[in-house]
Amino acid sequence: MARPKIAVIFYTTYGTNHAMALEAVRAAEEAGAEVRLRRAAETAPKDVVQGQEAWASQLEKMQDIPEVSHDDMTWADGYYFSTPTRYGGAASQLRAFIDTLGPLWQKGLLVNKTFTAMMSAQTLHGGHEMTLMSLYTTAMHWGAILVPPGYADPIKFEDGGNPYGYSKPAGELDETGKKSIAFQARRLVETTAKLIA
Ligand SMILES: Cc1cc2nc3c(=O)[nH]c(=O)nc-3n(C[C@H](O)[C@H](O)[C@H](O)COP(=O)(O)O)c2cc1C
Repeated sequence: MARPKIAVIFYTTYGTNHAMALEAVRAAEEAGAEVRLRRAAETAPKDVVQGQEAWASQLEKMQDIPEVSHDDMTWADGYYFSTPTRYGGAASQLRAFIDTLGPLWQKGLLVNKTFTAMMSAQTLHGGHEMTLMSLYTTAMHWGAILVPPGYADPIKFEDGGNPYGYSKPAGELDETGKKSIAFQARRLVETTAKLIA
């Protein structure tokens, strides 16, 4: 199998998507990929971040994770995005990075990259599908190749059943969630490997 390069790109405020991204990294590596873990830079004003202990300490915990760059986007054959919802869309920190990608898009450097996404919300119906669809819409504009999980594995009948991508209420990641993220990562890696063969 050709060894795909996968970038796991996430934003988190309170840690849910950090744990999800770590599981995606573990599973993508296990599936044979070379993986970069990258976070979207924090754009909220310092006093706002420092005003919430949970936010500030989560940011502190991630200092060793590089901020995502244009080089990561060109390096990777495929992307696994992870975001908390913000009223049914992706977090503005992630969108702010996406909004810098015009020059790459213009040169066709995002064409034929594979793309999958996962997300979290406070509630069960707080925008799971819309948030994922908003990221997939962007990926379609890039000419990326979408690799959603569908119901292509039995785990999708246990994990809440979101065919667009794994999604969960905020908080701790359970074993079912880990299995679902791992399935989605494997599917991304295997599909990408076929495309770059
Ligand atoms: C500005 C803002 C808007 C949000 N909008 C929603 C929403 O519409 N529905 C919902 O269920 N949760 C909403 N949330 C909750 C977040 O999605 C939740 O805190 C997040 O999934 C936790 O992920 P994290 O631990 O990775 O930061 C919102 C949070 C913020 C700060």
